[in-house]
Amino acid sequence: MPLWRLSGSARSVLYAEMHRSLGYVRCIVTNCRAVVVPRFGGPEILEVRPNVEVPDLKPKDVLVRARAVSINPLDTRMRSGYGRSLFEPLLPLILGRDISGEVAAVGGSVQSLRVGQEVFGALHPTAVRGTYADYAILSEEELTTKPPSVTHVEASAIPFAALTAWRAIKSTARIASGQRLLVLGGGAVGLAATQLAVASGCHVSITCGSQSLERVLAAGAEQAVDYTAEDFEVAIKGQFDAVLDTIGKPVTERVGINFLKRGGHYMTLQGEAASMADSYGLVLGIPLATTILLKKQILYRISHGIEYWWTYMRADSEGLHEIRKLLEAGKLKIPVDKTFPITEVREAHEAKDKKLILGKVVLEVD
Ligand SMILES: NC(=O)c1ccc[n+]([C@@H]2O[C@H](COP(=O)([O-])OP(=O)(O)OC[C@H]3O[C@@H](n4cnc5c(N)ncnc54)[C@H](OP(=O)(O)O)[C@@H]3O)[C@@H](O)[C@H]2O)c1
Repeated sequence: MPLWRLSGSARSVLYAEMHRSLGYVRCIVTNCRAVVVPRFGGPEILEVRPNVEVPDLKPKDVLVRARAVSINPLDTRMRSGYGRSLFEPLLPLILGRDISGEVAAVGGSVQSLRVGQEVFGALHPTAVRGTYADYAILSEEELTTKPPSVTHVEASAIPFAALTAWRAIKSTARIASGQRLLVLGGGAVGLAATQLAVASGCHVSITCGSQSLERVLAAGAEQAVDYTAEDFEVAIKGQFDAVLDTIGKPVTERVGINFLKRGGHYMTLQGEAASMADSYGLVLGIPLATTILLKKQILYRISHGIEYWWTYMRADSEGLHEIRKLLEAGKLKIPVDKTFPITEVREAHEAKDKKLILGKVVLEVD
């Protein structure tokens, strides 16, 4: 019988069956509480809405009951309009990349995780439905099991920062035992990069503010330079195989590149793709950003013999698995400075915006 001759209810049953046979799973929860960005602005625009739709799970999706979600700089920047060329047509957005919680349901093709397991992980930077919610949806490759020795709050502070560091030093620079890494900036990514490199047998030098000195030395850095107290260009010693620049200002780029050996890798976290697209629109901005990147890559290869990269966080199940092992072994830790209940998300964002709290802030989801 042709489809158009079926009754409305028969057609619904048929569609539901087709949906299910393709591995889609109707969610056990259809609505949940979530922190929504209805328009770009300050912390006051954040809305905790009680009834936000939870879509059906695609075959590789995992529904996670959130227990803790950490705040990354990307969250406060997205709230303020960073990436608006991409996100504005998709408003309202749910913020958040990092999560730790329990598996509540899985899509039809998920193999490695099952309902009830404690997991942690991070969404990729452009995901529209974020993790600041009672229930978040991540793909299987964006999650791994949480070590029992680590709390949800501790675990939620790790994945986005550690995967960004992993992408730079492991996937891009491929640092190996005995090599030297220079990290510029002692925040979450700088700290994660230091610990990942030390665990790989590398020697790490780092620049950071005075408040971060103790943390980075405890994380295994051999030299930590307080850039607020001394000229880091003079204080840093030797040549490096890789530089991870979390600050990405002209001065850090110049100094970082000058400290590289020939064949070394300079990686900045402040790539210009999103800001160019925001200024000139996606159609003009992305080719423009690509041109800037290519020009720099060619120029630095000729002038210094080095590789120049814009590094972006990316889902990497193998990397996340290694990060989990280091976390379990106590070799990777990002201290949490303060937690807020998710209902106080505006206060938490305000504290980050005003730099009242410099380290990690985590939202607890009851
Ligand atoms: N491209 C990407 O995909 C990507 C991914 C992740 C992050 N990022 C960007 O990379 C940058 C760093 O990210 P992040 O997650 O490392 O940010 P973060 O933890 O908020 O750190 C930012 C800065 O705040 C200072 N800070 C952090 N903890 C501190 C403490 N306890 N005491 C004093 N100062 C402290 C650090 O400066 P000092 O050096 O002075 O200590 C640090 O450089 C951000 O601009 C972020 O947007 C980009």
